[in-house]
Amino acid sequence: MKLTLGLVLAFVSSVSFAAGGSTYPLEQIEPDYSDKESLQRGLATYSHYCMGCHSLGYQRYERTATDLGIDPEIMVQAIVPSNKKIGDLGGIAMPPRAAAEWFGAPPPDLTLVARKRSPEWVYTYMKTFYVDPTRPLGVNNKVFPKVGMPHVLEPLQGLQRAVCAGSMVGDDPIAQVDSDSGQPMTESQCDSLEVIEGTAQLSAAEYDRLIYDLVNFLEYVGEPTKARAHNIGIYVLLFLMLYFVFAYLLKREYWKDVQ
Ligand code: HEC
Repeated sequence: MKLTLGLVLAFVSSVSFAAGGSTYPLEQIEPDYSDKESLQRGLATYSHYCMGCHSLGYQRYERTATDLGIDPEIMVQAIVPSNKKIGDLGGIAMPPRAAAEWFGAPPPDLTLVARKRSPEWVYTYMKTFYVDPTRPLGVNNKVFPKVGMPHVLEPLQGLQRAVCAGSMVGDDPIAQVDSDSGQPMTESQCDSLEVIEGTAQLSAAEYDRLIYDLVNFLEYVGEPTKARAHNIGIYVLLFLMLYFVFAYLLKREYWKDVQ
């Protein structure tokens, strides 16, 4: 029993390690494909803040519009870039080579990111950027250490700073020393994050909602058939119920003469 538990734990920890390269605890969320309004808000956030760098290269705009119940004309006006058609795949204008030079890594396509990482990982990733003056872009990330992406939602979430366990001397988490060992504090001793006052446009709850919608949308994009499969499932059940009624009536009809 102990052995099984040990194996399970070893497996779980290796999976979470492989997923992020960090052991930072991920926040749990429940994506909900049936919440079309949430998916639409997520699409809006994606198109404002992410589409400049990240493509959705396996998804056609038209498919998104149909699945999310968006009028194709509104989709063309509000989302589809002017050099693209609604039937096109969601590419970006930025040449990948130049992007790799600017950021140290090319911004990856996001169509499958929620499947590759997990919705929880992407959600926590978008919430754990924090000030780190040693990084070229001035920010680091708790689930993606040394990330090459700027904190594009910083005006909304505000700037976060890492707070170390125990007493802090000054504001800078990097300069903190563990009073027991005399060594600099390790990364995991400075895991709690707090928003620096006056830097955020949204409240914490509003920001959580925004990120939830965004991740819900990315999760849908990773598996658009799921949203449809759900609908089809209901029709299949209705059909089976109806079929049962007819089958039953037919059975009664046949057996009437036998009995
Ligand atoms: C200015 C360009 C830029 C913008 C805008 C941007 N990103 Fe990124 N993003 C990057 C780069 C560059 C990387 C690669 C970072 C690395 O490998 O170090 C990245 C990485 C990521 C990753 C990690 C992917 C993986 O599995 O490795 C996710 C998730 C992500 N971005 C989501 C978003 C979302 C959501 C938005 C919109 C809110 C967004 N990004 C906006 C440049 C950008």
